[in-house]
Amino acid sequence: MTQDELFKNLIAHTKEYGFIFPSSEIYDGLSAVYDYGQMGSELKNNIKKYWWDAMVKLHENIVGIDSCIFMHPKIWKASGHVDAFNDPLIDNKDSKKRYRADVLLEDYIAKLEAKANKEVEKGKKRFGDSFNEQQFRETNPNVLRETTKIQQVRERMTKALNDNDLTALRQLIIDCEIADPISGTKNWTDVRQFNLMFSTQVGSVSDDAGTIYLRPETAQGIFVNFLNVQKSGRMKIPFGIAQIGKAFRNEIVARQFIFRMREFEQMEMQFFVKPGEEMKWFEYWKQHRLAWHTAIGLGKENYRFHDHEKLAHYANAATDIEFNFPFGFKELEGIHSRTDYDLRRHQEFSGKKIQYFDPEDNASYTPYDIETSIGLDRTVLAVLSSAYNVEKLENGEERVVMKFHPVLAPVKVAVLPLVKKDELSAVAQKIMDELKFDFNCQYEEKDTIGKRYRRQDAIGTPFCVTVDFDTLNDNAVTLRERDSMKQERVPIEKIHEIVAQKVSMKRLLEQLK
Ligand code: GAP
Repeated sequence: MTQDELFKNLIAHTKEYGFIFPSSEIYDGLSAVYDYGQMGSELKNNIKKYWWDAMVKLHENIVGIDSCIFMHPKIWKASGHVDAFNDPLIDNKDSKKRYRADVLLEDYIAKLEAKANKEVEKGKKRFGDSFNEQQFRETNPNVLRETTKIQQVRERMTKALNDNDLTALRQLIIDCEIADPISGTKNWTDVRQFNLMFSTQVGSVSDDAGTIYLRPETAQGIFVNFLNVQKSGRMKIPFGIAQIGKAFRNEIVARQFIFRMREFEQMEMQFFVKPGEEMKWFEYWKQHRLAWHTAIGLGKENYRFHDHEKLAHYANAATDIEFNFPFGFKELEGIHSRTDYDLRRHQEFSGKKIQYFDPEDNASYTPYDIETSIGLDRTVLAVLSSAYNVEKLENGEERVVMKFHPVLAPVKVAVLPLVKKDELSAVAQKIMDELKFDFNCQYEEKDTIGKRYRRQDAIGTPFCVTVDFDTLNDNAVTLRERDSMKQERVPIEKIHEIVAQKVSMKRLLEQLK
């Protein structure tokens, strides 16, 4: 099965089992907007809790807030979003379709990469065990032709984007002979900048004065509350403010499922430090965030740092944590050293002094900021795509199993009477009533036990508890573990302890020390 097919199957699976639905589906959906179903919301809440606890509970000097989506419009002037939060767009005159110019070029580069990889595959087949991939890539003329082209296109694209040279960007699309995938023509308009913020009107005013924006990032709600939190919480530098919340961007190229959406959630933390100490903290947060990711068991090899070579004007260091999604390594989280830019800009635009008095130095300064910013939906996608497993069983059947880390699994225990009989149901219901205070449980008595196990595998439930006729005599049940499918007989009073140990958030958080 190709990665593409696997990804399509995963998307279908998440809909069938109540993880993610296309938004407004009965009205044919709304592009790049998705709803979380009964399983998806549980999974998302568990990820949020893991992040919140890792930030706010484990760090005595980090507190959490919940600021509003609507904020004073001047905030977005101060932050630079009104003037510079743009994507370069180009239209095809025949299909009337609009594209992001840089994405057309990225797709072109991906095709060149695919061509080069095909040559490498051919080489592998031809030379067998003696194949040296690195040497082949460095010497084979067909591969070299493609890689040279890739390098040239990348260099021109980066320069055009950095210089904000939209004419050069269009010329590159023409020179690469990129055609519209719909009309097949190369009849392109000029490239224009397009602001990604959604705007709306507040109150009864319909002119510009009433225009407000749906926040494109949660970070600004933290910056404008810096003084409130610092003073009311008597916070001492270094300290952090964390927040989870919705953000909105009018993404033009919205694809790859929940990877790029118009309405999404961010988990952001701004860590305020003494000027001059930012690099130490930048390194600390890089390592700490990577440890947070790897602790949930998606495989260390599936993460990598991508340091930014070209920095935004307000940053003095920046890196992305990329994850190996089904469509390749892509950004999952950004870690940025944002200097004192944001607090200074808000001081300038609001006219209010935003400074910190350091009692140790007996001096005031504008703190520097290290930001960690992770997409919640992208984390859900990372977790879903690595959990999704299709296994061939010994009896020739297939099972689809979501191998979630037990802490993140939407349902922790399924309680299943072997057959639908009053005496079994009564015991099972009693077990359920006991467990449901601590764990999210499901009770199921319809269909054969085999079918019910398959359904629980499909939603990733770590444990199934089966009550049978022996239970009525020995007060024990069959406990089935999801990944190994091993079944063992355990006394009813032991169930809670076994499950609690496996789904313990504490044990997961302890790995971050
Ligand atoms: N405050 C910094 C900031 O917003 P960003 O790199 O634009 O930085 C941070 O966004 C994270 O938010 C990204 O790493 C990504 O995980 C997530 N994100 C950004 N745009 C997104 C979108 N359209 N859909 C889903 N997640 C998105």
